[in-house]
Amino acid sequence: MSKNQILKALHEKKGEYVSLEKLASEGEISPEQVPEEIQWLRNDDYIIEHSSELGYRLIKVPNRLLPYEIQRDLHTSYMGNEIHYFKEVDSTNEVAKKLAEEGAPEGTIVIAESQTSGKGRLGKKWLSPSGGVWMSIILRPEIPPRQAPQLTLVTGVAVAETLDKEFGLDVGIKWPNDILIGNKKVCGILTLAYTNQKLDFVVVGIGIDLNVDLENFPPELREVTTSLKKELDRDIIGVNLVQNFLTDFENLYNEFNAGNFPEILAEWRRLSKTIGRHVEVHKRGRVVTGEAIGINTDGMLILEMEDGSLRKVMSGECIHLN
Ligand code: BTN
Repeated sequence: MSKNQILKALHEKKGEYVSLEKLASEGEISPEQVPEEIQWLRNDDYIIEHSSELGYRLIKVPNRLLPYEIQRDLHTSYMGNEIHYFKEVDSTNEVAKKLAEEGAPEGTIVIAESQTSGKGRLGKKWLSPSGGVWMSIILRPEIPPRQAPQLTLVTGVAVAETLDKEFGLDVGIKWPNDILIGNKKVCGILTLAYTNQKLDFVVVGIGIDLNVDLENFPPELREVTTSLKKELDRDIIGVNLVQNFLTDFENLYNEFNAGNFPEILAEWRRLSKTIGRHVEVHKRGRVVTGEAIGINTDGMLILEMEDGSLRKVMSGECIHLN
């Protein structure tokens, strides 16, 4: 794509002028076509200065999740090789599902600046205004369908480790798959497995409240949600976070495929903010209360009830009581 080639040439000399002729030859277009390509970049919020004598120079890259910017410095072997980007979309999970059905390869990413119909767990809506990272990844693991929920745990560990490494905050995981900073949620994960006798593909949806303005959230959500911007009191560069996450996720997913899930589960337990806590798990109007004492290899939470008996819980909304 000539736009990407032009951008590459501008990036290589960021802040310095690149001549019209050089941009034309890099983009394999005529000099007359260069202004049009520059306009496309400006429409994507790149700040590019023009001098009729010297050419064009890149002044500022937008803080947006543009595929070119993500792929520019991405050192994965397949995660993010194909990126489908939307300024706005209904749900990246829905788009990823369609692409997977059409044969999109493993590691394909769908990413959006905002979603009009974001999906959360347990049929809930997921608020997705601009400023967040709303992303879905297509996976094609060769595992039996019953192991698919393990991928939620793998993803949770990858997100928590990425945030921990990059920002050193008090990051942890609330069962089954909420990433918390302190005791507030910063990221949710929704894994959908599609089977046709055997496991066809999995779509892992990840929603991170990056630079999201929580003031516009309803009060009940504001109390239990945080954003990285709020925690760090500055705007976070989304592209860097996505690149780091894709690298960590690819490594962990390769470990998973190599049969090393027990080690990943051990890491999940280390990162868990639920184990050791008194909790309530709500599901379809029913509530189970107990001490969370562990998680098994199927991702089920193990509760010790008041009478000392043990109970395994498959899914639900977990509330930490202490
Ligand atoms: C949760 O309820 O905690 C899970 C939220 C998952 C939200 C993400 S945002 C990207 C992807 N697309 C969706 O519609 N949902 C997931």
